[in-house]
Amino acid sequence: MTTPYYITTPIYYVNARPHLGHTYTTIAADVVRRFHRLRKQETFFLTGTDEHGDKIVKAAQAEGRDPADYAEQISRLFRDLWPKYNISNDYFIRTTDSDHIAVVKQILQKIYDAGDIYFSEYEGLYCYGCERFYMERELVEGKCPDHGTKPELIKEANYFFKMSRYQDWLITYINANPEMIQPERYRNEVLSFLREPLDDLCISRPKSRLTWGITLPFDRDFVTYVWFDALINYVSALGYPEGEKFRKFWPQARHIVAKDILKPHGIYWPTMLKAAGLDIYKSLYVHGYWNVDESKMSKSLGNVIEPDYLRKTYGTDAIRFFLMREMAFGLDANFSEDALVQRINSDLANDLGNLFSRVLGMFHKYFNGVVPDVSPAMQEEIASLLSKPAQTAINTYQQEMELLQFHKAMIAVWDYISVMNKFVDTAAPWELARQPDQKDRLEAVIYNLLEGLRVIAGLLYPVMPDTAQTMLAHLGYDTNKVEYLSLEDLGRWQVLSPGIRLAKAVTLFPRIEPKNEQRKAPKGASEPIPKAEGEAESNARKPEIDISDVASLDLRVATVLKAEKVPKTDKLLKLSVDLGSEERTIVAGIAQSYEPDALIGRQVIVVANLKPAKLRGIRSQGMLLAAVSEQGARVATFEKPLPPGTPIK
Ligand code: ME8
Ligand code: MG
Repeated sequence: MTTPYYITTPIYYVNARPHLGHTYTTIAADVVRRFHRLRKQETFFLTGTDEHGDKIVKAAQAEGRDPADYAEQISRLFRDLWPKYNISNDYFIRTTDSDHIAVVKQILQKIYDAGDIYFSEYEGLYCYGCERFYMERELVEGKCPDHGTKPELIKEANYFFKMSRYQDWLITYINANPEMIQPERYRNEVLSFLREPLDDLCISRPKSRLTWGITLPFDRDFVTYVWFDALINYVSALGYPEGEKFRKFWPQARHIVAKDILKPHGIYWPTMLKAAGLDIYKSLYVHGYWNVDESKMSKSLGNVIEPDYLRKTYGTDAIRFFLMREMAFGLDANFSEDALVQRINSDLANDLGNLFSRVLGMFHKYFNGVVPDVSPAMQEEIASLLSKPAQTAINTYQQEMELLQFHKAMIAVWDYISVMNKFVDTAAPWELARQPDQKDRLEAVIYNLLEGLRVIAGLLYPVMPDTAQTMLAHLGYDTNKVEYLSLEDLGRWQVLSPGIRLAKAVTLFPRIEPKNEQRKAPKGASEPIPKAEGEAESNARKPEIDISDVASLDLRVATVLKAEKVPKTDKLLKLSVDLGSEERTIVAGIAQSYEPDALIGRQVIVVANLKPAKLRGIRSQGMLLAAVSEQGARVATFEKPLPPGTPIK
């Protein structure tokens, strides 16, 4: 029996919808779990949502919602999304689960009883975005390095975890266990951080300031700091302290995270484990950021990539492949739809798809779909031309997958695909088919190409499970019984039985036209918010204006009262809005980005003095401010409710 293996993603905050970044990490974890299936290793795969804390309260407030309802709604988006990406998690944890809450309290009590938690008055610089105190020296020009905002000086009494006590132990531990933090650059980053004195960690928030959290077991006037709560999910999900899963899978944990949360995972978590008397996790695998069209992906820039849009437009496997192939794990990568289309066309449609349809096409043409019985002499001569490079690919693939170097593992597979394609060209089966005395050779060529496809299907399974299944089904496997082939199976050659009949090929990946306008403007951007006559449509910067030009705009807060689709259009919504003194009708080109019901109750910005215009027979009295990009439209809104009609100056 091999050692059990435990893989986790971060548990995502429910203050925002799932986006490309979350999707990447979760797919990476899924690839790791499926790769361990190929190794016949028992695996537990965990993901979930992080639901307590200030951030969530703020996000809920902005939508006028109760934190619990709001958390449930966003958590549901994650739970609904993952199956569509073929994510095979064994469990989905929520920090609002009662089991988790009980474990957090138990661990807090344990550390408190051991004397590692103390109460103290504290004055410090607090960043609300990060929900933590900063040391002066951690700030960049006096501002939070993450949020670019000035932290506030606040004074309060709180509970502290004696993290400083564990500094020397942690340094020694990291040095003795080089596999603990990977890739190496992040290990160095943690070590260099530990060269400065480590502060104790403030682990509570007074209820006067925050109630949405887990009450401290030893003081009911305080809730637990969200990170102390969240990190514990990795053991509470296994049923700490007595659960069977906990006993089996802890400490075989591998945590995948991005560099944004290196410090809590590289420093808080191991010291917490140590203080609670638990073994330290095996590895923390840290990846870089996805940027979008060379800039940071952020809500405020409006360039957040929606996983649902990607999947619907390009397909699950194409996205899984692109994300794994394009990012070198550990480094930042750039996302662009152009690069995605290029990879789909060249790597998937061309290299892989053509090989598959070419080999199966010739097989059907020359052998009527029945696997030939190859003569031993011919097999001897031909097999190694494809089996040797297959073994090389398997070995490299295995090494790279173990290090989570997915892109290198994919390169190894594509090197083999290229060997196969070249072999077809040089062996030229179409010429062999013209010469009756070459029938033996033709049989061996095609048979070994089918064997090569089997290896490729096997290696693709972790990254592209659906594609692997389609390929295996075409190679005679009953995919209701066989979901994947083990690495051991892949190491064997001459597996396909002569005489079996195989189905005709399907197109694995259709080519995508790069200049498809439909694709470039997915969500109604082609008919944006009605604009004043003659207004420029382009995104180019506009010439400088006077303050008086701005003052001439009457911008006001409005609350959406009703929203419905304009019949016979897919882009227009008819809204009734409350402008304080009056109710107005506004037609907005946002129907492809918003369900009408989702807008009701929302506060928006309206240009109130725009000359009315008729749109599809409806008199539109004003215009809604929204950003329109390739991701669709996003209406401008406020973080806190305001009286309708409030002017914006
Ligand atoms: O930090 N590129 O949750 P979170 C790549 N709740 N990955 C990205 C990314 C990007 N641009 N943006 C986000 C939290 N991610 C805490 C975690 S764990 C005990 C608690 C991914 O919703 C990446 O995995 O902010 C990153 O670490 C994570 O989302 C942060 O998710
Ligand atoms: Mg974050």
